[in-house]
Amino acid sequence: MKDMWSTLAQKGQAAAGRSIPELMSAERADGYAVEACGMRFDYSKTAMTDADRDHLLAMCDAAGLSDKRRAMFEGRAINETEGRAVLHTALRNLSGGAVMIDEQDVMPRVLGTLARMEGFARAVREGNFRGQGGAITDVVNIGIGGSDLGPAMATLALAPYHDGPRCHFVSNVDGAHIADILGPLNPETTLIIVASKTFTTIETMTNAATAKAWMAERVRDPAAQFAALSTAQDKTAAFGISETRVFGFADWVGGRYSMWGPIGLSLLIAIGPEAFRAFLRGAESMDIHFKSADPLENMPVMLALTGLWHNQGCGHATRAVLPYEQRLNRLPAYLQQLEMESNGKRVSMDGADLPVDSGPVVWGEPGTNGQHAFYQLIHQGTRIIPCEFMVGAEGFEHELPHQHRLLIANCLAQAEALMKGRSLDEAKALIKDKFSGDELERQARHRVFPGNRPSTMLVYPKLTPEVLGAIVALYEHRVFVEGVLLGINSFDQWGVELGKELAKALEPVVAGETSADDKDASTASLVGWLQRHGA
Ligand code: F6P
Repeated sequence: MKDMWSTLAQKGQAAAGRSIPELMSAERADGYAVEACGMRFDYSKTAMTDADRDHLLAMCDAAGLSDKRRAMFEGRAINETEGRAVLHTALRNLSGGAVMIDEQDVMPRVLGTLARMEGFARAVREGNFRGQGGAITDVVNIGIGGSDLGPAMATLALAPYHDGPRCHFVSNVDGAHIADILGPLNPETTLIIVASKTFTTIETMTNAATAKAWMAERVRDPAAQFAALSTAQDKTAAFGISETRVFGFADWVGGRYSMWGPIGLSLLIAIGPEAFRAFLRGAESMDIHFKSADPLENMPVMLALTGLWHNQGCGHATRAVLPYEQRLNRLPAYLQQLEMESNGKRVSMDGADLPVDSGPVVWGEPGTNGQHAFYQLIHQGTRIIPCEFMVGAEGFEHELPHQHRLLIANCLAQAEALMKGRSLDEAKALIKDKFSGDELERQARHRVFPGNRPSTMLVYPKLTPEVLGAIVALYEHRVFVEGVLLGINSFDQWGVELGKELAKALEPVVAGETSADDKDASTASLVGWLQRHGA
């Protein structure tokens, strides 16, 4: 593989001088696009050629992608540093058969838990599960990372389907977050869901204790208005939550891959069982496609290869994810965890240093807002930022079709502008009536767009639960493919541990209970400043 990465980097360098507009043709527009699950992924506005793509496909073979994909779906312990299988796909295996781990089919348990979640969601939605003050009006999900971002992102994305109680999400340990969320709520009609795979995460457990105290001020049996989503049922019991409202899952569901199961309970309560199942079915359809399609026709594979082309091949260190629909506001944050916690690693599975850079920095913001913020840098800055656009053909605001058309036009226009740019002559022609001579040249240079900047486009019919499920599964599998080619473990996250440990040790220092003497000079001096100013 090492040589193949070097060759990829050479190919990336060779592509630097290549003109994307000159590559473009009707044949390319079709040949550099993949259709699956009712969506189309277009990567024709990149500098990738057939030879580059062949090389990337050969890298899939060399990395043993199809065997590794089979190993994941078959429940083998591919998360080698934690000795675990990786089977979030089982959570949406609604029409599939048995999924075996240690000679046991996990599906009866998965489907049984889903049925219990649906029963509880129905009871909450229909007012049969009640708080002290009557039917539940508000649900507060307390969780962080994968126990927050998925349901928070999807609940917002699927707002047109949200017909259950209001849902709120508390994640930050900053007391302001929980105070602002709980402040306007009535504890007597609020359900608190504590979402934590481990049930030890300090942010979540601190917020859960705060919520319990808040509820205890007005509710005689506060624990009766709590539910828990966790793999650690001893800990949920110790917290006082009845097992009838504990929804468990196995350790083969990674935190950032967990919204398909119990961690999705707040979403399920918001949109109801039918829409939640549609969401699962959408993801399942992407799983089936990913398992069976040839690499060139395989959307997650081609999305991954385009990512590797831009990052490890061409050397672009970041990628922007630019969904145009406002309701996908939290998708970039969701994808940041999915991609960066999964593929931000510096050693390969065997512990050796990676021969190439690992995953890129992922960032973004819904489309037209971003246009008025950071697109300036994307168009005219000195660094190249590959952009991943996405937009739906149809919106939900039927009385505002012109606004959706404008949204689509903006999305397509940005990709077009990035590719085509604007030459010096074109810029001069625009302002020739206002300026002349050297001043015309100087002014025009500010108006030049270099163009030739790569982007991809994912288009889908409408942001339904099925489509959202398919989009998220697409990105999950993209992360898997990139991880396989990089030779890393995409399913652990040791990089979050050190900060957690140090924070635990620093808390009593900040509280003035222990000395800062064993801290480095900078940390000790910052603690001192914060204490003098009120900490
Ligand atoms: O950030 C580290 C992490 O372990 C994530 O992987 C996970 O999603 C998050 O913390 C929350 O963990 P838990 O669900 O165990 O509270």
